[in-house]
Amino acid sequence: MAPPSSPRVSLSGAALLAMACLLLHGGAAAAAGELCADYYDCTCPDAYKIVQGVLIEAHRSDPRIFASLIRLHFHDCFVQGCDASLLLDSFPGMQSEKDARPNNNSARGFPVVDAAKAALEDACPGVVSCADILALAAEISVQLSGGPGWSVLLGRLDGKTTDFNGAQNLPGPFDGLPMLKRKFRDVGLDDTTDLVALSGGHTFGRVQCQFVTGRLYNFSNTNMPDPTLDSRYRAFLSQRCPRNGPAASLNDLDPTTPDAFDNHYFTNLEVNRGFLQSDQELKSDPGALTTTAPIVDRFASSQEAFFRSFALSMIKMGNIQPLTDPSKGEVRAHCARVNAS
Ligand code: HEM
Ligand SMILES: *[C@@H]1O[C@H](CO)[C@@H](O)[C@H](O)[C@H]1NC(C)=O
Ligand SMILES: *[C@@H]1O[C@H](CO)[C@@H](O)[C@H](O)[C@H]1NC(C)=O
Repeated sequence: MAPPSSPRVSLSGAALLAMACLLLHGGAAAAAGELCADYYDCTCPDAYKIVQGVLIEAHRSDPRIFASLIRLHFHDCFVQGCDASLLLDSFPGMQSEKDARPNNNSARGFPVVDAAKAALEDACPGVVSCADILALAAEISVQLSGGPGWSVLLGRLDGKTTDFNGAQNLPGPFDGLPMLKRKFRDVGLDDTTDLVALSGGHTFGRVQCQFVTGRLYNFSNTNMPDPTLDSRYRAFLSQRCPRNGPAASLNDLDPTTPDAFDNHYFTNLEVNRGFLQSDQELKSDPGALTTTAPIVDRFASSQEAFFRSFALSMIKMGNIQPLTDPSKGEVRAHCARVNAS
């Protein structure tokens, strides 16, 4: 009889455990196309902590990184689902989504995603997908900034294609409220609570002058400022973003608490201090009156209500078209390129 500590026995023990986990969670759930919170519990139990460690380290030299990372998850999920398509560099026949208008010279944080991937490959090679790294990084970023936590659903595979045109069509800062609503409905989110709660992501991070100069100097080609913009905030922004100044100069999306995840995005909207046109419309557009504005009011008066909705909407966003079919996806070894076949 083999001693219980023989390599053979412990190996088959581990294999059994892995199989039970796969059947219970990974395998069974994935077959139904569903994600689950404990997907890596057996195959990479420290995945969350590993990503968290990389993010904390990155934040020491880059206080903006948490905001940048949650935006990557958003830009990934809205374009052919959360499949890490955003992370792929261009390759023959596929133009990178990084080149699309909303991302070029704007989306950032890719080296930190690569660092998390490298750390995970060290600990558990070939196990954790890049799409799941983005989902984990989003939640960790929000929590480390003072926001709510939630149970991150996992088990996404990485896709093998990009969708450049889809990325061109991401919600834009000059989209009117009806267009914003449509783009959220198009990905299966609702155009009320999900739209308003997720827009609350603009409670931290930075934004370039080029996205506000129209509102400051030539709103809807009127040669006048946007009349909904609070005049003192307009004066402040006009100094930071002069008429023919550098388009890429950075501003805080939330000037009251620039790096904290709180409900000040909504209290700002209440006093006409939204930065983007697409922000202020949620409160001020005539069509907002009976749709999004009451939700803005609710989140402005209750951070707790905002946090609860935000967590739920992030889980919904992370569930857009989950790619779990192994014939269509893979766990990439490097997030910027598909595996060699
Ligand atoms: C509703 C439609 C949305 C529009 C039109 C929009 C537009 C923008 C724009 C124009 C910027 C500034 C980019 C730059 O200056 O380079 C930005 C930044 C940002 N967005 Fe959004 N966004 C939207 C929704 C979201 C959502 C759903 C989230 C997350 C849940 C989010 C999170 C962020 C963050 C955190 C930043 C700052 C990123 C950084 O500092 O690197 N946005 N967004
Ligand atoms: C991205 O921005 C750079 C300038 O930084 C520009 O040269 C390039 O053409 C842009 N790419 C696309 C696809 O527009
Ligand atoms: C305002 O915008 C319109 C349309 O884009 C443009 O024709 C006009 O020259 C702009 N005015 C100024 C002062 O930039």
